[in-house]
Amino acid sequence: MTPQEKLRSWFLLNQRDLPFRKKKQAYSIWVSEVMLQQTRVAAMLPLYENFMSRFPTVADLARSSEEEVLSAWKGLGYYTRARNLRKAAIYVEQNFNGSFPKDLNEVLKVPGIGPYTARAILSIAYDLKHAVLDGNVKRVLARLFIYEKNILGAGADKDLQSLADNFLYEDFPGDHNQAMMELGATICLPENPKCLLCPLQSDCKGLSENLLDRIPLRTKEDKKLSLIGHFIWLEKGEEILLIKEKKPRFLKGMYVLPYYFEGKLPSEEYRSSELIQDLANRKSLIKLPRSFSHTITHHKFQFWIHKEVLSEKESDQLVSAMREEMDCKWVKKENLENEFPSSLASKVKKIILSD
Ligand code: ADE
Repeated sequence: MTPQEKLRSWFLLNQRDLPFRKKKQAYSIWVSEVMLQQTRVAAMLPLYENFMSRFPTVADLARSSEEEVLSAWKGLGYYTRARNLRKAAIYVEQNFNGSFPKDLNEVLKVPGIGPYTARAILSIAYDLKHAVLDGNVKRVLARLFIYEKNILGAGADKDLQSLADNFLYEDFPGDHNQAMMELGATICLPENPKCLLCPLQSDCKGLSENLLDRIPLRTKEDKKLSLIGHFIWLEKGEEILLIKEKKPRFLKGMYVLPYYFEGKLPSEEYRSSELIQDLANRKSLIKLPRSFSHTITHHKFQFWIHKEVLSEKESDQLVSAMREEMDCKWVKKENLENEFPSSLASKVKKIILSD
């Protein structure tokens, strides 16, 4: 037997007895798939039965008011699904005379129907050759074929969709897709998969290589906060001004070139002291035409540099005001990287020297 045959036989014997599996009808499959997107089977079943008796056909749903649909959706949450379902019923009534389209591209135009739901309905209701990909199916495929990359990463859906397409049992796409989901939901569990009961036990590459505790890899990509920052380069002869603020957000304990961030700040912590803001408002500062990027844990910055050459007198006035609130020191330009020991210092210096 092929793996697909084994999987289907297992499914036909072991599938859960679910009301939407009783008849192959696009409307009831559609409603059940939308409900199952964010709700567990056990929680959705009573609400599904109630919804179907309130709105037994696409036409009934299309004729209903939004309030009626929302009231029948009570308990399922994520109410956008209910509003979209009603809008979609109206769309299918108007454009397809109430019968759900059979072409994937047409289905994808129906409000609220994405690639998963479209493929699920077309395969389960019409036995069209489309393989579905949901969280459970992704786990099954990743283990079966040893997909070691992050399944949440960019490109993973494309890779996994092609594994799913290749593995589809084309004679029975509806059974196959449901069997894959059922296997993921009941056997190929995230933790402690029940491999001894699995119909694909002897086909599973992940199992034979003993990799199941590592696959699938799910790492949320670090969302970096983007900020635009500005450094102030104050020069006096051969020396540069460095400061150390009392409560810096970054580079704690270090003397740094004065800096501030522009625009909407993620929190008050990112706001620089008033003295730095005053410094930033000096009319005689010149903004250099090149910026550079820099990352510090969870942050991505684009930094600009503003430069001013001060006279001895100007610099004395400025620094005596600043000393009240922070530590200040003048350092030799050539010592900047030692005094401000961050790669930021070299990036700034490179731009200053090329100016
Ligand atoms: N989860 C969502 N849709 C499903 C289906 N048709 N069968 C099994 N699990 C599912």
